[in-house]
Amino acid sequence: MSMLFNSVITDFDLHSGLSQAKASIRRRLSDMRGMFADQTAFEEELRTDDRLVYEYYDMGVPHTEKDVAYGTSIVYPGKVGAEYHMTKGHFHTVLDTTEVYFCLRGHGYLMMENPEGDVEARELKPGLALYVPKRYAHRSINVSATEPLITFFAFPGHAGHDHGTIETKGFRKVIAEKHGAAEIVDNPRWST
Ligand SMILES: [Fe+2]
Repeated sequence: MSMLFNSVITDFDLHSGLSQAKASIRRRLSDMRGMFADQTAFEEELRTDDRLVYEYYDMGVPHTEKDVAYGTSIVYPGKVGAEYHMTKGHFHTVLDTTEVYFCLRGHGYLMMENPEGDVEARELKPGLALYVPKRYAHRSINVSATEPLITFFAFPGHAGHDHGTIETKGFRKVIAEKHGAAEIVDNPRWST
Protein backbone atom coordinates (compact mmCIF):
# COMPACT_ATOMS: atom_id res chain seq x y z
CA MET A 1 0.00 0.00 0.00
CA SER A 2 1.48 3.35 -0.96
CA MET A 3 1.54 6.31 1.39
CA LEU A 4 -0.35 9.37 0.23
CA PHE A 5 1.73 11.76 2.32
CA ASN A 6 4.52 11.87 4.84
CA SER A 7 3.12 12.76 8.21
CA VAL A 8 5.32 14.74 10.58
CA ILE A 9 4.96 15.20 14.30
CA THR A 10 6.67 18.21 15.87
CA ASP A 11 6.74 19.15 19.55
CA PHE A 12 5.76 22.69 20.54
CA ASP A 13 5.87 23.26 24.28
CA LEU A 14 2.65 24.90 25.46
CA HIS A 15 4.44 26.91 28.16
CA SER A 16 7.48 28.17 26.23
CA GLY A 17 6.18 27.79 22.67
CA LEU A 18 9.55 26.28 21.73
CA SER A 19 10.32 23.10 19.80
CA GLN A 20 13.19 20.76 20.54
CA ALA A 21 13.03 19.35 17.03
CA LYS A 22 14.06 22.48 15.16
CA ALA A 23 16.07 25.67 15.62
CA SER A 24 14.03 28.85 15.79
CA ILE A 25 14.65 32.10 13.94
CA ARG A 26 15.52 34.72 16.56
CA ARG A 27 15.09 38.47 16.42
CA ARG A 28 16.97 40.63 18.88
CA LEU A 29 16.52 44.33 19.54
CA SER A 30 19.42 45.05 17.16
CA ASP A 31 17.43 43.36 14.37
CA MET A 32 14.56 45.83 14.94
CA ARG A 33 16.26 49.15 14.18
CA GLY A 34 13.81 51.72 12.81
CA MET A 35 10.71 49.73 13.77
CA PHE A 36 9.80 51.31 17.10
CA ALA A 37 8.32 54.79 17.22
CA ASP A 38 10.68 56.14 19.92
CA GLN A 39 14.10 55.92 18.28
CA THR A 40 15.89 57.64 21.15
CA ALA A 41 14.56 55.04 23.60
CA PHE A 42 15.53 52.31 21.13
CA GLU A 43 19.17 53.42 20.89
CA GLU A 44 19.39 53.83 24.68
CA GLU A 45 18.05 50.34 25.34
CA LEU A 46 20.22 48.79 22.66
CA ARG A 47 23.39 50.13 24.31
CA THR A 48 22.86 48.02 27.42
CA ASP A 49 20.40 45.28 26.52
CA ASP A 50 20.35 43.69 23.05
CA ARG A 51 17.65 41.32 24.24
CA LEU A 52 15.69 38.66 22.41
CA VAL A 53 12.43 40.30 21.28
CA TYR A 54 10.80 37.36 19.49
CA GLU A 55 11.44 34.03 17.83
CA TYR A 56 9.49 31.83 15.43
CA TYR A 57 9.78 28.71 13.33
CA ASP A 58 10.11 28.00 9.64
CA MET A 59 9.36 24.30 9.36
CA GLY A 60 10.69 24.09 5.81
CA VAL A 61 7.37 23.19 4.21
CA PRO A 62 7.56 23.40 0.38
CA HIS A 63 6.57 26.82 -0.99
CA THR A 64 3.60 25.67 -3.01
CA GLU A 65 -0.07 26.59 -2.78
CA LYS A 66 -0.84 22.96 -1.97
CA ASP A 67 1.23 23.03 1.21
CA VAL A 68 0.52 24.64 4.58
CA ALA A 69 3.34 26.41 6.41
CA TYR A 70 3.01 26.42 10.20
CA GLY A 71 4.83 26.96 13.45
CA THR A 72 4.81 28.94 16.67
CA SER A 73 5.75 32.55 17.30
CA ILE A 74 6.91 33.74 20.72
CA VAL A 75 7.05 37.47 21.53
CA TYR A 76 8.77 38.18 24.85
CA PRO A 77 7.47 40.83 27.25
CA GLY A 78 9.08 44.26 27.19
CA LYS A 79 8.77 47.78 25.85
CA VAL A 80 10.81 50.29 23.88
CA GLY A 81 9.76 53.61 25.31
CA ALA A 82 6.00 53.18 25.74
CA GLU A 83 5.65 50.77 22.79
CA TYR A 84 5.31 47.07 23.47
CA HIS A 85 7.54 44.36 22.04
CA MET A 86 6.30 43.15 18.66
CA THR A 87 7.27 41.24 15.55
CA LYS A 88 8.48 43.12 12.47
CA GLY A 89 5.27 42.22 10.70
CA HIS A 90 4.80 41.58 7.01
CA PHE A 91 2.55 41.51 4.00
CA HIS A 92 2.45 38.22 2.13
CA THR A 93 4.30 38.46 -1.18
CA VAL A 94 1.24 36.81 -2.73
CA LEU A 95 -0.99 39.51 -1.30
CA ASP A 96 -4.31 37.67 -1.49
CA THR A 97 -3.30 34.83 0.84
CA THR A 98 -4.60 34.41 4.37
CA GLU A 99 -3.32 33.13 7.70
CA VAL A 100 -4.70 31.70 10.93
CA TYR A 101 -3.27 32.47 14.37
CA PHE A 102 -4.25 30.49 17.45
CA CYS A 103 -3.19 31.97 20.77
CA LEU A 104 -1.69 29.46 23.21
CA ARG A 105 -0.43 31.75 25.95
CA GLY A 106 -0.18 35.37 27.03
CA HIS A 107 -2.00 38.55 26.07
CA GLY A 108 -1.53 40.69 23.03
CA TYR A 109 -2.86 41.99 19.74
CA LEU A 110 -2.55 41.23 16.10
CA MET A 111 -2.25 44.53 14.22
CA MET A 112 -3.49 44.32 10.65
CA GLU A 113 -3.70 46.79 7.79
CA ASN A 114 -4.25 46.56 4.05
CA PRO A 115 -2.71 48.71 1.30
CA GLU A 116 -5.85 50.88 1.21
CA GLY A 117 -5.24 51.89 4.83
CA ASP A 118 -7.97 49.89 6.58
CA VAL A 119 -6.67 49.01 10.05
CA GLU A 120 -7.82 46.31 12.45
CA ALA A 121 -6.31 45.38 15.81
CA ARG A 122 -7.64 42.15 17.38
CA GLU A 123 -6.95 40.98 20.89
CA LEU A 124 -5.16 37.66 21.37
CA LYS A 125 -5.76 35.56 24.47
CA PRO A 126 -5.33 31.82 25.03
CA GLY A 127 -8.00 29.86 23.19
CA LEU A 128 -8.77 32.54 20.57
CA ALA A 129 -8.22 31.78 16.88
CA LEU A 130 -7.86 34.72 14.52
CA TYR A 131 -8.32 34.58 10.76
CA VAL A 132 -6.21 37.22 9.02
CA PRO A 133 -7.98 38.24 5.80
CA LYS A 134 -6.19 38.26 2.47
CA ARG A 135 -4.31 41.50 1.64
CA TYR A 136 -3.71 42.43 5.30
CA ALA A 137 -0.21 42.94 6.71
CA HIS A 138 0.04 41.54 10.23
CA ARG A 139 2.19 41.96 13.31
CA SER A 140 1.97 40.36 16.80
CA ILE A 141 2.27 42.65 19.82
CA ASN A 142 2.74 41.44 23.41
CA VAL A 143 1.06 43.73 25.98
CA SER A 144 1.75 41.53 29.02
CA ALA A 145 4.47 42.72 31.40
CA THR A 146 5.34 39.19 32.49
CA GLU A 147 4.29 36.50 30.00
CA PRO A 148 5.40 35.64 26.47
CA LEU A 149 2.75 35.91 23.75
CA ILE A 150 2.67 32.49 22.10
CA THR A 151 0.70 31.80 18.93
CA PHE A 152 0.49 28.91 16.49
CA PHE A 153 0.18 30.06 12.89
CA ALA A 154 -0.65 28.43 9.56
CA PHE A 155 -0.63 29.91 6.03
CA PRO A 156 -0.41 28.73 2.41
CA GLY A 157 3.07 27.52 1.52
CA HIS A 158 3.48 29.86 -1.45
CA ALA A 159 2.45 33.06 0.42
CA GLY A 160 5.97 34.43 1.03
CA HIS A 161 6.94 37.29 3.35
CA ASP A 162 7.25 40.90 2.26
CA HIS A 163 8.93 42.76 5.13
CA GLY A 164 10.19 45.56 2.93
CA THR A 165 7.18 47.83 2.75
CA ILE A 166 6.54 47.53 6.50
CA GLU A 167 10.19 48.08 7.40
CA THR A 168 10.29 51.33 5.47
CA LYS A 169 6.83 52.68 6.33
CA GLY A 170 5.73 50.94 9.51
CA PHE A 171 2.09 50.31 10.41
CA ARG A 172 -0.34 53.21 10.65
CA LYS A 173 -1.13 52.40 14.28
CA VAL A 174 1.04 51.26 17.17
CA ILE A 175 0.15 49.88 20.60
CA ALA A 176 1.68 51.77 23.50
CA GLU A 177 1.20 51.89 27.24
CA LYS A 178 -0.77 54.88 28.49
CA HIS A 179 -1.66 55.28 32.17
CA GLY A 180 -0.80 51.62 32.73
CA ALA A 181 -3.00 50.21 29.95
CA ALA A 182 -2.48 49.21 26.31
CA GLU A 183 -3.81 51.80 23.87
CA ILE A 184 -3.98 51.81 20.08
CA VAL A 185 -2.56 55.12 18.89
CA ASP A 186 -1.43 56.73 15.62
CA ASN A 187 2.13 55.91 14.64
CA PRO A 188 3.91 59.28 14.86
CA ARG A 189 6.48 58.10 12.30
CA TRP A 190 4.08 56.71 9.70
CA SER A 191 4.14 58.46 6.36
CA THR A 192 2.58 57.83 2.97
FE1 LIG B 1 1.95 36.00 7.59
